[in-house]
Amino acid sequence: MEERVHNFSAGPAAMPLTVLKRVQAELLCLPGAGASVMEISHRSKAFSDVLAGAKDNIKTLLNLPDNYKILFLQGGASMQFTMIAMNLLNGGTADYLNLGSWSKKAIAEAKKHGTVNVAWDGSADNFNRMPSNDELKLTPGAAYVHSTANETIQGIEFAEAPDTGDVPLLCDFSSAFLSRPIEVEKYGMIYAGAQKNIGPSGVAAVIIRDDLVERCPEGLPSLLDYRVMVKNDSMYNTPPAFGIYMINKVTEYLRNDIGGLEKMEAINRKKAATLYDAIDQSEGFYTGHAKEGSRSLMNVTFVLKDSALDAKFLEESKAADLDGLGGHRSVGGFRASIYNAITQESVDTLVAFMKEFQQKNG
Ligand SMILES: Cc1ncc(COP(=O)(O)O)c(C=O)c1O
Repeated sequence: MEERVHNFSAGPAAMPLTVLKRVQAELLCLPGAGASVMEISHRSKAFSDVLAGAKDNIKTLLNLPDNYKILFLQGGASMQFTMIAMNLLNGGTADYLNLGSWSKKAIAEAKKHGTVNVAWDGSADNFNRMPSNDELKLTPGAAYVHSTANETIQGIEFAEAPDTGDVPLLCDFSSAFLSRPIEVEKYGMIYAGAQKNIGPSGVAAVIIRDDLVERCPEGLPSLLDYRVMVKNDSMYNTPPAFGIYMINKVTEYLRNDIGGLEKMEAINRKKAATLYDAIDQSEGFYTGHAKEGSRSLMNVTFVLKDSALDAKFLEESKAADLDGLGGHRSVGGFRASIYNAITQESVDTLVAFMKEFQQKNG
């Protein structure tokens, strides 16, 4: 295929075309470096500028207070399931919200390193909504509460951070990171695999408050030790340099081209409303999985009234250059991932296709 499709993939996912073109333009030679970003020392001035730029962009976009550190770590978001448990659970007790497929994986890893109290479990309702604060059964004195901002597979998202009182809230933001402004002060730690909104897979952005870093035990394997990673500014060993470079480019674009996260949120809300309206107005031909109030701005999940049409929908959408719409293998149905880089035009094209498909098959 020569042409770019409307890419609704859940991750790795679409990147802003403007960014890809800029990266293409400097792929052979990073300005001032005389080589590509993949060919220079991570200790060089050119790469230090890239790393500092990525951190500065994230700090500015999120209005991050000075008592939080930004790290870029290898192993994706899943490595954070383990690192959190090794560094901050470490034999103690923590609360986990079981909100969907990714929460489940985080819980499974944490259980290897301490006692996990599931403070809310959405499995009985097939993970179709987020809990309210008064539904949480929090453990007084827990080491932390772990949450997931947006469950990518089920397509449910917290409108606001859950209230965990004095207990630090740690949150997997993988599929919602930098999609809208958040109150960072409500979190002890935020982490996100890059491959949805900010870059390529394999690198995670981690934002951690200083008092949590201070809690980490001595003697962990160095690469899994937040204290070591903070002390070495993510460069204890060779960092994921290309990934960090891409994050710098995407966050620079969010800052300067989009104009910040309020603007990004407005764009994202309009795209999501377009799609949810189409589902709601289909008179039951399409049904959304998420309950009102928990609908994800990033992953719109839906099923067809007649599942016998599923294969046809997928085949015809693909033929119309609408790619990546199949639901996750664990839940079926359909999922349109409409991360930051997805344009309103792509969403409009999808909605036009859905309406036409309904007309022909409804
Ligand atoms: C919410 C969430 N958490 C964690 C992950 C796992 O990320 P990774 O593959 O980078 O480990 C994903 C998706 O890939 C995700 O959507």
